[in-house]
Amino acid sequence: MKKGVNSLKIRVFTDSRIAVAYAAAIVEHVVEAEHHPTLSLATGETPSALYAQLVEFHRRGLSFTDVTTVNLDEYVGLPKTHAQSYHQYMQEHFFQWIDISKDRIFIPNGYVNNLQNECERYDRILQQHPIDLQILGIGINGHIGFNEPGTAFKPTTHIVGLSEETIRSNARFFNSLNDVPKQAITMGLQPIMQSKQILLMAFGEQKAQAVHLALEGDVQTHVPASILQIHPNVTFILDEAVAKACKLNL
Ligand code: F6R
Repeated sequence: MKKGVNSLKIRVFTDSRIAVAYAAAIVEHVVEAEHHPTLSLATGETPSALYAQLVEFHRRGLSFTDVTTVNLDEYVGLPKTHAQSYHQYMQEHFFQWIDISKDRIFIPNGYVNNLQNECERYDRILQQHPIDLQILGIGINGHIGFNEPGTAFKPTTHIVGLSEETIRSNARFFNSLNDVPKQAITMGLQPIMQSKQILLMAFGEQKAQAVHLALEGDVQTHVPASILQIHPNVTFILDEAVAKACKLNL
């Protein structure tokens, strides 16, 4: 068993398909083992295959009726029905295919007049639903959720101006760079760090720099994912492409 920094675990798989199957098996275990589990979910390219795998597990009998989900983030200014909203993403990739009850699904709403009230509302939800398993991707700049680099670590739900790197990177999901929202609402680092268990998935060499700094650099606000080094139960699930490119000392 390879151990990384402190008790942080690193699992490297030949390709992301196998890595995703590994992550999905852990999700299944938590869903089955906990009485009323709360999963905290990410969106974007990385976890989409995980949701497909979990839908497959559901077809083979895994039930989500006792599961509560909270999502990490949402764009500001996109209605829930917008094709690129994270509400829509979650419906398309996961929720419409499983037996989760609608009233157990929580996603911050970035399409409200009073964003501060929404942050406070979401924090109350998070307090009521401590996270059993947190699924994370990582931005090429080291962000987790939309906790962007450079500012102080923020514990609670907040509005964030997306960095230029994030806007450029997420432009792949929009018709043009101009269409990418400039702000998001994101869970803060406290509920993430208080999760019982965290899985961070990163695939492809474009994530190498971020993964390298998160694992082997100091814990620093310039690399929000580096804070995971001090969590007691976190696993980095990587493919060989990212592990080789960041020359992980495994
Ligand atoms: C999205 C989120 C982000 C993404 C990250 C990587 O809910 O939390 O932190 O995980 O931007 O995105 P992809 O997987 O598209 O490279």
